[in-house]
Amino acid sequence: MKLAVIGCGYVGLVTGVCFAELGHTVIGVDNDPSKIRALREGKSPIYEPGLEPLLAAHLREGRIRFTESIQEAAKECEVLFICVGTPPLPDGRADLQAVEYVVSEIAEGMDSYRLIVEKSTVPVRTGRWLEDLVRSKVKNISFDIASNPEFLREGSAVGDFLHPDRVVIGCNSEKAASLLVNLYTPLNAPVLVTDLASAELIKHASNSFLAMKISYINAVAQVCEKTGADINKVAVGLGLDKRIGPDFLKAGIGYGGTCFPKDLRAFVSIAEECGLDFGLLKEVEKVNDAMWQGFVRKIDDMLGGVSGKTIALLGLAFKPNTDDMRFAPSIPIAQTLLQMGAKVKTYDPVAMENAKKVLPHLQYCSDAYETVDGADAVAILTEWNEFKTLDLNMVKERMKGNAFADGRNLFAPERIEQMGYAYVGIGRSWPGMALPLSV
Ligand code: UDX
Repeated sequence: MKLAVIGCGYVGLVTGVCFAELGHTVIGVDNDPSKIRALREGKSPIYEPGLEPLLAAHLREGRIRFTESIQEAAKECEVLFICVGTPPLPDGRADLQAVEYVVSEIAEGMDSYRLIVEKSTVPVRTGRWLEDLVRSKVKNISFDIASNPEFLREGSAVGDFLHPDRVVIGCNSEKAASLLVNLYTPLNAPVLVTDLASAELIKHASNSFLAMKISYINAVAQVCEKTGADINKVAVGLGLDKRIGPDFLKAGIGYGGTCFPKDLRAFVSIAEECGLDFGLLKEVEKVNDAMWQGFVRKIDDMLGGVSGKTIALLGLAFKPNTDDMRFAPSIPIAQTLLQMGAKVKTYDPVAMENAKKVLPHLQYCSDAYETVDGADAVAILTEWNEFKTLDLNMVKERMKGNAFADGRNLFAPERIEQMGYAYVGIGRSWPGMALPLSV
């Protein structure tokens, strides 16, 4: 099949390249000329493992090409995926300006039946609004609007696309359903076909649930800290219950990234527009903020005040295997430490260029060992593999102090303390620890 992805960011580029991998012919559209130039040369503007080799291979084979013109894609392709950003407005609602523009351009360019698919996350009932928008612009040409939400994790997006838990297709016409089902047939994945509104809602409901699961384990971690229980063991015990499952039960400094913070707020706003107060999700956000705030407090307590001290932050990206800094907990942590008078040194394997734009006042280092040089405290903010294999004796030798703040519970506390560090993690306890028991 011949299809277009409009918007070549994380979602669009991965979607386009993976559809080419499935044997379809793809046109990628983006309004950024420098991005189009790079893509035509086989260079991915984003860091996503496995993406660039696939992009290069399918460019060579002519299965994917790139253009700046939406109308050109609308003329040539029967199926068009909307993959442009839907960033949050100040009140939490999704900004649909880019989606509106894309769909208007498609309507200008289409000359026969077209299937327009929402891939970007949009609020429920956006499809209905887009139907009206297209109908107001084209006469005597049939079309369908469908929802096919993405569930791609950054860092493993290619694998997630090619081996999904499920493909969700929402539409109100059989023709649209069968076109989309056929596109995904090579995947052999479970496909759920629903009405348009239900598919739109599944996306917000899924991401909010996952964020809720993380905040739940983080809230339990806070209870562990006060009672001498260990969150890592508690999470295993919880996760062995099949109804709960072991995933998304890692306690830490909170979730970040483009999806969870934004989708949670959007879902709260959608509920509000319907006259409902989704208070449960507001609490999820509060717990998430409490995690980075509590982590800063722990570092401050360990050092008897961070003012004038040097803190080494290892990892900045909101999670490993991505250079994405959007909504990363490292941002408020670093900003707060600076405001409190600390000197902040840092290293991240791939996110430093993006980090410099939002955190210009940190001292950026070329590796973890340079970062900890002369530091009073080291704090792990992202669980990159290379931090798991650090020579912690060498780290200790190069540090001035011995405070070790493990924001991702990467290390066994006893082992760290045996090396002469003072350890704090998230919800951890171990034999012999000094315990602030409250009960
Ligand atoms: C997420 C969803 O997983 C994906 O389905 C959706 O389409 C987009 O949003 P992503 O944001 O790339 O993907 O990352 P994910 O791996 O889900 O992690 C999100 C955040 O949650 C990260 O900051 C991560 O550190 C945090 N997290 C995740 C935890 O703190 N604990 C966990 O147990 C899992």
